[in-house]
Amino acid sequence: MSLELTFEETIARDQRIEPRDWVPDAYRSTMVRMIAQHAHSEIIGMQPEGNWITRAPSLRRKAILLAKVQDEAGHGLYLYSAAETLGADRAELTEKLITGGQKYSSIFNYPTLTFADVGVIGWLVDGAAICNQVPLCRSSYGPYARAMIRICKEESFHQRQGYELLMTMMRGTRGQREMVQEAVNRWWWPSLMMFGPPDADSPHTAQSMAWKVKRHTNDELRQRFVDMTVPQADALGVTLPDPELKWNAARGHHDFGEIDWAEFKQVVSGNGPCNAQRIAHRKAAHDEGAWVREAAAAHARKIDERQGS
Ligand code: ACO
Repeated sequence: MSLELTFEETIARDQRIEPRDWVPDAYRSTMVRMIAQHAHSEIIGMQPEGNWITRAPSLRRKAILLAKVQDEAGHGLYLYSAAETLGADRAELTEKLITGGQKYSSIFNYPTLTFADVGVIGWLVDGAAICNQVPLCRSSYGPYARAMIRICKEESFHQRQGYELLMTMMRGTRGQREMVQEAVNRWWWPSLMMFGPPDADSPHTAQSMAWKVKRHTNDELRQRFVDMTVPQADALGVTLPDPELKWNAARGHHDFGEIDWAEFKQVVSGNGPCNAQRIAHRKAAHDEGAWVREAAAAHARKIDERQGS
């Protein structure tokens, strides 16, 4: 059987593609693109919340936030390892991130102005991430699908901590409740953008669905997220900032307003509120860490030499 046929049959049987298997070049580059973008998102995603570690309102909140940001670093490293199984070089991926050659999620280019943003990121941003990533546990590329299982478990915990933080604030003073509502107003629309462009404008969806890399389209997942979030907003006592948001009994889903796709395009092309700051910060951290990488490599060489002698 030809290599191409074996690949297609593996996909048709719903089995996993593994690193040793032959894959078409386009499948490899799609997986590297998607996994790298995901890894970069986790790494850049440490910054908006990391901004509040030194100013968390209590030791308990600080410990939770520290643990969460560390989890994101772990997800990033885990995903870079998954990309390496496809032949990608981690140093090159980092270089592409800091020179703008590879994307990361649009959501992390928005500022975190108050501590309520930490709760709203957990609730909405991690909620959207779970919605998008749970189906990826069945993605056709084995190392990515398996990475998603652990990542989704941790993301679920993050989502719950965000919601619990917001519940606490909503039981607090009027000022705290207003702070939560104001944060929800700022994060709602960017959270919907996380799912990517509408299906009609998504160049990769059709092929990625055919390869079972993606299991649902961008619009399907966005709708699922809206339907899941509306009752949570009611329970919390906040209003989602969309006058067109309403239940549509005929469709069995919520209708919602038009997303500002011009804003999405601006953010994805590097012109969002914090793009330059995020990349500059990541580049500085990378440059300042050069001596650590050199020392680790020198140490590894010494160990090899000792074992060799
Ligand atoms: N932010 C930045 N770029 C985006 C976004 C977004 N929210 N959505 C889509 N894009 C980019 C795509 O990467 C693609 O760019 P490219 O052609 O230059 O490579 C382009 O816009 C067109 O989009 P699609 O055709 O819809 O691309 P795709 O089929 O890859 O779908 C999606 C995009 C849904 C993000 C998919 O790649 C995915 O599910 N990735 C895994 C999850 C992930 O990366 N999550 C990151 C944020 S979650 C978190 O870290 C907490």
